[in-house]
Amino acid sequence: MGRQCHFILALIFFPAVLSLDFGGSRVSRNTHFNVDVVGQIGSAVDFSDHHHIRKRRSADDGGDTCNGLQGYKNKLSNNTHSTTFNDLSGSVSLAWIGDGTGVVLALTTFQVPIFLLKFGQSKLYRSEDYGKTFEDITSLINNTFISTEFGIAIGPENSGKVILTGDMSDNGGSRIFLSTDFGESFSQSDLSFNPRMQIIYNPQNSNVLVTISVKNELWISEDFATTWSKIYENVCVVKWGEDNTLFFSTNLNGSCYDRGTLIVVKTVNYGKAFKTVAEKVYSFGIGGRFLFASVMTGTGMMRMIHVSTDQGEEWNMAQLPPVGHEQFYSILAANDEMVFMHVDEPGDTGFGTIYVSDDRGMVYSKSLERHLYTSTGGDNDFTNVTSLRGVFITSVLAEDNSVQTVVTFDQGGEWVPLKKPENSKCDSTAKDKNKCSLHIHASYSMSMKLNVPMLPLTEPNALGLIIAHGSVGDAISMLTPDVYVSDDGGYTWLRALEGPHHYAILDSGGLLVAVEQNKEPISKLKFSTDEGQCWHEYIFTKEPIYFTGLASEPGAHSMNVSIWGYRDYLLSQYWVSVTIDFKELLTRDCTDNDYVSWLAHSDDISDPNDGCMLGYKERFLRLKKDSVCANGRDYIVTKQPTPCPCTLDDFLCDFGYYRKENSSECLEQAELKGHDLEYCIHGKKEHLQTNGYRKIPGDKCEGGVNPERKEIDMRKKCVSDLLDPQLQTQEAEKPKHSALIIVVVIAVLLISCIAGVVFVKKYVCGGRFLVHRYSVLQHNAEASGIEGVDEPLDTNVVGNSKTSFHEDSDEDLLE
Ligand SMILES: *[C@@H]1O[C@H](CO)[C@@H](O)[C@H](O)[C@H]1NC(C)=O
Ligand SMILES: *[C@@H]1O[C@H](CO)[C@@H](O)[C@H](O)[C@H]1NC(C)=O
Ligand SMILES: *[C@@H]1O[C@H](CO)[C@@H](O)[C@H](O)[C@H]1NC(C)=O
Ligand SMILES: *[C@@H]1O[C@H](CO)[C@@H](O)[C@H](O)[C@H]1NC(C)=O
Ligand SMILES: *[C@@H]1O[C@H](CO)[C@@H](O)[C@H](O)[C@H]1NC(C)=O
Ligand SMILES: *[C@@H]1O[C@H](CO)[C@@H](O)[C@H](O)[C@H]1NC(C)=O
Repeated sequence: MGRQCHFILALIFFPAVLSLDFGGSRVSRNTHFNVDVVGQIGSAVDFSDHHHIRKRRSADDGGDTCNGLQGYKNKLSNNTHSTTFNDLSGSVSLAWIGDGTGVVLALTTFQVPIFLLKFGQSKLYRSEDYGKTFEDITSLINNTFISTEFGIAIGPENSGKVILTGDMSDNGGSRIFLSTDFGESFSQSDLSFNPRMQIIYNPQNSNVLVTISVKNELWISEDFATTWSKIYENVCVVKWGEDNTLFFSTNLNGSCYDRGTLIVVKTVNYGKAFKTVAEKVYSFGIGGRFLFASVMTGTGMMRMIHVSTDQGEEWNMAQLPPVGHEQFYSILAANDEMVFMHVDEPGDTGFGTIYVSDDRGMVYSKSLERHLYTSTGGDNDFTNVTSLRGVFITSVLAEDNSVQTVVTFDQGGEWVPLKKPENSKCDSTAKDKNKCSLHIHASYSMSMKLNVPMLPLTEPNALGLIIAHGSVGDAISMLTPDVYVSDDGGYTWLRALEGPHHYAILDSGGLLVAVEQNKEPISKLKFSTDEGQCWHEYIFTKEPIYFTGLASEPGAHSMNVSIWGYRDYLLSQYWVSVTIDFKELLTRDCTDNDYVSWLAHSDDISDPNDGCMLGYKERFLRLKKDSVCANGRDYIVTKQPTPCPCTLDDFLCDFGYYRKENSSECLEQAELKGHDLEYCIHGKKEHLQTNGYRKIPGDKCEGGVNPERKEIDMRKKCVSDLLDPQLQTQEAEKPKHSALIIVVVIAVLLISCIAGVVFVKKYVCGGRFLVHRYSVLQHNAEASGIEGVDEPLDTNVVGNSKTSFHEDSDEDLLE
């Protein structure tokens, strides 16, 4: 009965709280209390009578670490700090300000929509000691309601700047609160417009801010919100490029829904002068140093990707298939060297093809077919394994419609299934017991409402470490997943914890913590000092709490972790945060003897090229499993790279060339047709001169094979009747009216789906600004689970009518 009451209360009082999911620990996902489809929640084994669970490893190098830790309970209980908030708000947003400052802001918001009016209340708390104690600083923001949609905007680097956007006041303007001293003091400023998106900082100069108003005006401030000026109207999307360049899309007719008629404009002097850099644009995006625009082709309803590496001055056509209205392009990951681009298949198939680019972003190689990317929910499992260079994990939709996980260790060159963990069996759903592998549960499983509280977790400073939910079989299973750990970047795996958990990486991988996903109140934290082989348990509170999320400073350098949750009394609920400092556990600083040398990507030590990946191998110093010591805040990964000799596999085939199956040689294509001809017409002359080979982006091989051969001009192959522009226009039939309308409707629906995804994705992939230092915890779990408000798709719908264009965030997605 008690639960039932709470349930209804939650529904009534907190239905409209948006679950903004700002990456990092993805804490808000833990709100899926009720989503278990098959398994029983909390069905994990009860570990209570034996506190140390030992996991064996194939390579038994660690020795017995499970008994190495003694008497940790007292050490931890002396360093456990509990804070109760006299506050029953629907959601808590957390933001870490600066790196290593220990400053955390907690914004609680309570919101009730009454027809079109919104009544809300927020409270602001601040901690200076990594969350151990909080001070109520609500008076600093004059008790103004801060809208959750815009959240807490934190300045880049260690600027200490914070902007909170107050809810719209009556005078048609908005009120913001600004801090330049890590949230110690705030000044108030009234805007003459209402922003429709979070105010964004110029990543190069945190005094310069831009935002788009609800009237689609572009506003800029060069003096940290003291004065604002309107620099453009009818603006759809705005993004910062490099070197203080601002890009935005706009429509001369004033409708952002008129896709394919947008223009992209740039300004390099904060709006004193403008330059149109692309026309007939459907959407644009920035990934690494590449600026992409999907541009309508001359013929019909198709569009193609154009790419620029000089901030829009010169464009090239990307050698990718054109897409129609019902399809989309998506930048899965990008850095300054290359991009992973997903191209949706025609029709509603739920999959597409991944292409990897060359260093110009122009020539693409097919990397993975049948890549799962649902067009309805807009989910895909693409994950950059940031703890080891070149490793990416994603899912494919097999011919039999099952979903299977694949991994690449060489930046998309080859994809293979994950190895089955030694200490696990194929689950009951596997058809062939001999052919089973590990499958990782990520966004797609979450969208299918499996009991997966967190995405896979990796950190660049926690070398080779991956923690993820998974199942072992011939495809992703609907059964309740367990937690698996890899310590070598995904080559080998170990089943670490039974049942779904929340997890966090601390002290650069020297310490892992986990909390079991449970509907019931919990009081137990699990931790491991040996990369997940052996777990210890610690009871952090006498009075169990309803758990909502684990929070620790982004970057995994910290040794402090906070467990957030609430206590539910008869008529009231209180937020509770328990922060545990592991300093007494890891008192000793690690010394040279605590590290061993490790060659990454190594599988055959007899091969002189063992460990070569993209032309070089790297030897790292990594912590021994049985070393119980602190890496410390200042830990940096020590690596020794050595170049490998080049082979033909260090090159990709340039425009006009192809590889035969099982061969490394690039052969000249006999004829160029279709899409290649477009490239011929619009491609830049110098890019059509080639010897057929091009180094793979990021490849640093030296010596060895050098595929020198005569450069030829592909232009002379570009002869075809089709190049006659007369013919092209004739081909383009006038679309029938009804068809047009249907297409447009589909497109609009699709766009809003995708825009939702993006919202989540940007932060996962690490936005350009330090917004990933921000996370939202909610305890209206049941409400949102049932209502589905925390689904990306619905976030837009609930948000309000701003739907598809209200985020700045489709950075990594180009529809
Ligand atoms: C915990 O703190 C108490 C008093 O602050 C002290 O007496 C005790 O020795 C400490 N325990 C440990 C294990 O450090
Ligand atoms: C709070 O609001 C009142 C009334 O609008 C105003 O007079 C006062 O200066 C504000 N205080 C702060 C700290 O912003
Ligand atoms: C603006 O709209 C008018 C009528 O709706 C149309 O004829 C014109 O082509 C549009 N212009 C642009 C640039 O989209
Ligand atoms: C993957 O993550 C690593 C580590 O953060 C980063 O250096 C690399 O550029 C990323 N790769 C891509 C293609 O985004
Ligand atoms: C943990 O928090 C304390 C402050 O309470 C801080 O002094 C310490 O540096 C933090 N530890 C790490 C590793 O960040
Ligand atoms: C390529 O190699 C694979 C495995 O080695 C083999 O099954 C396949 O038949 C080969 N393809 C060709 C065209 O030789």
